[in-house]
Amino acid sequence: MNASSSRPRILVTRAVFPEHLERIATHFDAEANQSDVPIAAEDLASRLEGVDGLLCASGDRVDTSVLADATKLRGVSTISVGTNHIDLAACHARGIVVTNTPDVLTETTADFGWALMMAAARRVTESEHWLRAGHWKRWSLDQFLGVDVHHATLGILGMGRIGQALARRASGFSMKVIYNNRSRLPEAIEEECHARYVAREELFTQADHLILVLPYTRDNHHTVSVAELARMKPTATLTNIARGGLIDEEALADALEGGRLAAAGLDVYEGEPTINPRLLKLAHVALTPHLGSASRDTRMAMGMLAIDNLIETLAGHEPPNRVT
Ligand code: DGY
Repeated sequence: MNASSSRPRILVTRAVFPEHLERIATHFDAEANQSDVPIAAEDLASRLEGVDGLLCASGDRVDTSVLADATKLRGVSTISVGTNHIDLAACHARGIVVTNTPDVLTETTADFGWALMMAAARRVTESEHWLRAGHWKRWSLDQFLGVDVHHATLGILGMGRIGQALARRASGFSMKVIYNNRSRLPEAIEEECHARYVAREELFTQADHLILVLPYTRDNHHTVSVAELARMKPTATLTNIARGGLIDEEALADALEGGRLAAAGLDVYEGEPTINPRLLKLAHVALTPHLGSASRDTRMAMGMLAIDNLIETLAGHEPPNRVT
């Protein structure tokens, strides 16, 4: 047996940085997809035959059909903190270790959430499109009036690491922070974040700017729908940097079209990369293509961490970020 054939075989589903490829090459025999064309689920299934490890990303669905012939697969390492694209139960039933990339993206993603919330509140993208289209003829007192962020109430739904990082940013804007989460945070963290736990209903009624940062699961599909949107102030903004499926996009479009919500900032979509055409038509929605963690340093760190996770998993060691 030559040296390379004893090394684990891995499949890398999406293009990664040259530094990642270098590190991968020192540990694995890898099939890399540097063309970056997403691999369809049927193809992924056949390409996993005889493969020990999968390095994937949030657009790759890893479910029972994909795993059917992956008899050698021992590790699935996703370059994301979200794992909703992976059937965890199916992986665990087959003894496949699943890992993700938390922590390294927290501050970068919170920065982006902040930017998107600010863009929606102060109509940054909307006015830029208008200016680029050549419409600006003069300054006017009432041009593109937005809603203030400073001294307003920030509502955070999902108070994990990114939610807490957002809350910490709010102090600089003299904001009041309220949050709702599956479980209330320890008092010390609430104090550090200057955040007050409120009931879900109160979060929607009180927030001037509401940001979604909770993980998506089957149980919270469309957790923001007609009733929740109806509770929000007509002057409020809604920002989603978590997962598209959390919002009923038709209900959101209705609320925005009907003037029942001031603006929205969306980085994630239910059918991404396809965007609901009604949202595309609305100028008061700032839309970005799933960029929350997209700084060069953070994407580099996420890739490296995902590789580390796979190295440890395939060596039979406990990986740094096992998802249970
Ligand atoms: C994550 O890490 O989950 C981001 O949304 C990128 O997919």
